[in-house]
Amino acid sequence: MKNRFNNLTSKEWLPFQKSWFRFKDTTDLLIQNILFFTQIREDEAYYPNIITQNSKETLQKLQSDKALAGRRILPFEQQAAFKRIDFAVFDLLEAVHALQSFSDFEILLTDLARKIHQIADKLVDRKFILILAQNKVIDGVFYPFAWLIGKYFQQILSLKDEKIGVNLGLPENTANIQLNGLTTEENLVYALYFRKDEMASLNFKDAIIPEFKNKIQLKTNLRFQSVFPSYQIVKPPRRKKNEILHPAKYPEVLIESFIEHFTKPGENVFDPMSGTGSTQLAALTLGRNAYGSELSPFFSDIARERCSLLLSSPDFPARPKVEFRLKTKDAREITAYDFPPLHYIITSPPYWDMLNMKGAENQAKRRKQGLQTNYSDSGRDLGNIADYQAFLQELTDIYLQLYDLLLPGRYLTIIVKNIKKKGRNFPLAWDLSLALSKKFILCPESFWFQDDLRIAPYGYGNTWVSNTFHHYCLTFQKPA
Ligand SMILES: C[S@@+](CC[C@H](N)C(=O)[O-])C[C@H]1O[C@@H](n2cnc3c(N)ncnc32)[C@H](O)[C@@H]1O
Repeated sequence: MKNRFNNLTSKEWLPFQKSWFRFKDTTDLLIQNILFFTQIREDEAYYPNIITQNSKETLQKLQSDKALAGRRILPFEQQAAFKRIDFAVFDLLEAVHALQSFSDFEILLTDLARKIHQIADKLVDRKFILILAQNKVIDGVFYPFAWLIGKYFQQILSLKDEKIGVNLGLPENTANIQLNGLTTEENLVYALYFRKDEMASLNFKDAIIPEFKNKIQLKTNLRFQSVFPSYQIVKPPRRKKNEILHPAKYPEVLIESFIEHFTKPGENVFDPMSGTGSTQLAALTLGRNAYGSELSPFFSDIARERCSLLLSSPDFPARPKVEFRLKTKDAREITAYDFPPLHYIITSPPYWDMLNMKGAENQAKRRKQGLQTNYSDSGRDLGNIADYQAFLQELTDIYLQLYDLLLPGRYLTIIVKNIKKKGRNFPLAWDLSLALSKKFILCPESFWFQDDLRIAPYGYGNTWVSNTFHHYCLTFQKPA
């Protein structure tokens, strides 16, 4: 198949499609991106023009890099020299790092909008803009600047994709983020990919800066022993027979790391959408009480079966008596009478109605094996709500209702993905965070990276589509 998108071979194309990566040097990262997003066509004497905004030193390295020969690279200030632009890169990492307030951020965003506006007409249709950004803590408040940038420009350009980078090149003495006892690493970078669609109206005037209410400082009574990792790569063991019956369970080892961090033995852990009971299994294994609800009687039976097996196992270590209770119930109907006060909630919702998408490769495989491809056909199942805004609202309402069951100062973790559907990006993780931060305090993000899946050559030779192998682990605190 002829590659009409770049000059890479299929072997070189594939690794770029993984949605997370580790890097040591921003220049290398930019080189990889320029190679992916531009194409030299010798036969037509077509040589791509690239605009970049980054340090002078990086620019010089890019301009003299042999791998990029045949591409013309200019800094944004010289954009007037180009009649057409094939790729634009705005590296905001240093600028975001230097921000001291939300109003600084608004200035940065407006300035970036002005720059993109200036080059928008020259950007060839269906070509991309890459923005590198990060989130940041200022004065004890976590600001998801990268997500706000994504949401802002999504109003003007088409947000096609995101990749999450882990910067391994930070100096040894780079401080971790300190939030009143909760310490996390500050090494995550977002590569946000926007595309100029044909006939895009590029109306910058009406774009509004998304609202962000998380202005309260995080206070905690818990004294955490360790730094919470910004990402985890978990290789779960092969799923057992009854676990495969569920289309989307998460690995217990991942959940154990959260439970261990956010609770003490004997405390109460809860999951409103328990599926096969992975949360409860992890909690019981660690000597915590395990509570939950699940809409589907089929899955709640599996969850009960798995937990009873663990509790009755001769290997189950002697620990103070732990309690386990799981209700087959719609999460919308949970009240404070159903469960004791909760020390921690960890959960993962249906990723919108993605399981109803017939085309997904995984779905086809499951169908072939005679396995269930969605959770249920129930109208109460959140995974069957077709409208994104309606789904988001219902989900938000459920978590806000759980606020009352959670003890003050305690945490809620939601594992979720941003969703790509029919070529559009629905940033569920970001939207949920912004909606919940009206009541909860949003904490620094962490990720679950999958590294055991085969990369599919989506879009090969035509356009850019990643394989989403990262899940957001969004943590919120109920104010103390
Ligand atoms: C991503 S799965 C959770 C998987 C679980 N963490 C595990 O490891 O097995 C989401 C679950 O939400 C359940 N669900 C959907 N709508 C629900 C509702 N209204 N109330 C409670 N559970 C619901 C689905 O049946 C599904 O099992």
